[in-house]
Amino acid sequence: MKVLILGVNGFIGHHLSARILASTDWRVYGMDMYDDRIRTLQDDARFQFFEGDITINREWIEYHVKKCDVVLPLVAIATPATYVREPLRVFELDFEANLAIVRLCVKHHKRVLFPSTSEVYGMCRDTQFDPYGSELVYGPIEKPRWIYACSKQLLDRVIHAYGMRGELDYTLFRPFNWIGSGLDNLHAAKEGSSRVITQFLGHIVRGEQVRLVDGGHQRRCFTGISDGIDALMKIIDNRGGRATRRIYNIGNPANSLSVRELAEQMLRIAADYPEYRDNAARVQLVQTSASEYYGAGYQDVENRVPKIDDTCAELDWRPRVTMQQALTEIFEAYRGETRAASALIEQEPRA
Ligand code: UGA
Repeated sequence: MKVLILGVNGFIGHHLSARILASTDWRVYGMDMYDDRIRTLQDDARFQFFEGDITINREWIEYHVKKCDVVLPLVAIATPATYVREPLRVFELDFEANLAIVRLCVKHHKRVLFPSTSEVYGMCRDTQFDPYGSELVYGPIEKPRWIYACSKQLLDRVIHAYGMRGELDYTLFRPFNWIGSGLDNLHAAKEGSSRVITQFLGHIVRGEQVRLVDGGHQRRCFTGISDGIDALMKIIDNRGGRATRRIYNIGNPANSLSVRELAEQMLRIAADYPEYRDNAARVQLVQTSASEYYGAGYQDVENRVPKIDDTCAELDWRPRVTMQQALTEIFEAYRGETRAASALIEQEPRA
């Protein structure tokens, strides 16, 4: 099997590549603008990396779409602060650039595994979000936070429509707050520059305030990256065509935490490590409003829980990684980096 991964240096891309190389005889062809997370993979003869940009290196992409069996277009902006501040960039990359890739898959009859998102459900009020039943609920246009969800949703619909015409073999997968090492850059101290786990870890490492948006009552289900990769491996393998034209939530309903509970659990774990303990003891949890933290264009979902019955039954999969395990792995992974991260206090003084 030849697998094309665009955005191979990203959070999902680098974990998926490592798993493919370690557990199969498949080949990975990967493109990314950066290579810091995949350097250790580059010695493997079954891994070929090309440094490039999906909006520029179109010939490389078309050649490799033709050459490969499965395509994963993983390039996207996925940080909520960017949806609010730079909505057009999100649309141009997450929708327009990826539409071109999807069309190449149609043209060359290649299977595409598209990363939809838990965000497509928007502010849905169902107790569990169902890919085949739940409504997708967004706020007014003045709330650009939803441009990401809307862009992903529209591409889901385009892919589905190609499938209806029998022109595309696809699977849509929806990660629910996947977490693990290499999620975002720990050294980016700026608020909103990363997702909540990395943001909080950075504050703990630097002994800064942790800001709980709207009190931190909103809930997410966090999913260990290895569980996500287990599901993706089965979708790529696609035994008997079982994942063809299916939509899968990939998340862990058992790991439901409020953002405040997340901060508290992270602080408890940090206290067990000499590298984190002293700065963690200085951290204060403070409340802030969404408009103060993100700006007026932000809106949030109160409680996001995936319905995973189909994913479990059809893929013979279930999430196993507990919250404690997932967070411990993250704290372990960054033990050696605490000094570099805390040095940012000098460069970027903050309250
Ligand atoms: C995420 C992102 O949109 C995508 O990465 C992805 O598609 C999807 O959801 C997913 O991973 O399933 P969200 O869960 O809102 O969206 O992203 P985070 O930035 O991780 O924020 C989680 C919650 O923590 C939000 O309610 C946010 O307001 C809160 N938060 C974040 C704080 O209270 N304080 C902070 O410093 C940062």
